[in-house]
Amino acid sequence: LENKKNINRRQYVLTHISFLITWLVAACKPEKIEKEPLVAVKESKLVLLNIFPEIAVSGSTLDINWYSENIDFLTFYIKTGTTNWQIAADGIDADNGLIHLTMPNRFEKDELLTIKLSGGGKEVIRENIKTENIILPKSVEIIKIEPEYAIAGEQLGVYFTSENIALLTIELRDKQQNLLLIRNVLPSAGKLFFTLPDYFVLGERLRLKVYGDGVYATLENITTKNVLIINTVDYFYLKHINGIEKVHPVFEDIWLKRIAEKEMIAMSGNCTHAGCRIELYFNGGHFYCPCHGSKFSTDGLVMNGPASEPLKTYACEWVADGTFKLIY
Ligand code: FES
Repeated sequence: LENKKNINRRQYVLTHISFLITWLVAACKPEKIEKEPLVAVKESKLVLLNIFPEIAVSGSTLDINWYSENIDFLTFYIKTGTTNWQIAADGIDADNGLIHLTMPNRFEKDELLTIKLSGGGKEVIRENIKTENIILPKSVEIIKIEPEYAIAGEQLGVYFTSENIALLTIELRDKQQNLLLIRNVLPSAGKLFFTLPDYFVLGERLRLKVYGDGVYATLENITTKNVLIINTVDYFYLKHINGIEKVHPVFEDIWLKRIAEKEMIAMSGNCTHAGCRIELYFNGGHFYCPCHGSKFSTDGLVMNGPASEPLKTYACEWVADGTFKLIY
């Protein structure tokens, strides 16, 4: 019985040692490593084939041909003698193989151009490209002024058009060529408004000149007008409808007739026959010329000759209650 017990004990111990060894072998067995398939690293390639034309012309395009492999996008740089690299085009699909690169508007004399293509870790450079400037035709034209005459103290609009001029200058002179005002303006603006002097001498004519880069356009003999503000409270008769009264701008009488609350007619006090000064007769019933007897109605129409033309009229605009603007 004692022997049998020893045998069982040994078998028990052996069984456990065997189990322990099996476990140790299994635990120490290296895991199977999945090997990744080998991927070949593709080499990128960039070759500048040619440019056309061989001379870079200002404001024109320069065609660039290239060949590339394994590059997605390219950036194009340009540089002239004194400048740093400038990006001329970015994010260009490298498979295109052709780009029309716009050249700067102007090169310095004998300036050389350098171009660079960059992408996918590659760079190619073409140096010493000769440059040339295109002489573009320049022109300037005055389209119109607004209003069509110059009113003292008010705005005058000048509308113009031009080609290939960087900056325009607008100047206004009087009959004696005295400079009244001068302004610079970008051609792209197409128009310029400026305030005129407060007063023009009677019969003054102006000369407008628009110029730049050696070309110019002029507008001669621009008629001038002055402004007189009429506040009817200052006039005995003009407070009332059909009231007639004379105002005295320099060198010429002007007769005003208030025909409505907001309407006034303004007539020259000079007879249309030979220029004598007319007078108001018979309680304001008509105008009479003392020189040769012409008669005019209070609206300026000829009633008796020798004058044959009605009195010259002027604009007289209502401004606000009781106030009018006479432009003469
Ligand atoms: S100038 Fe007035 S009628 Fe001759």
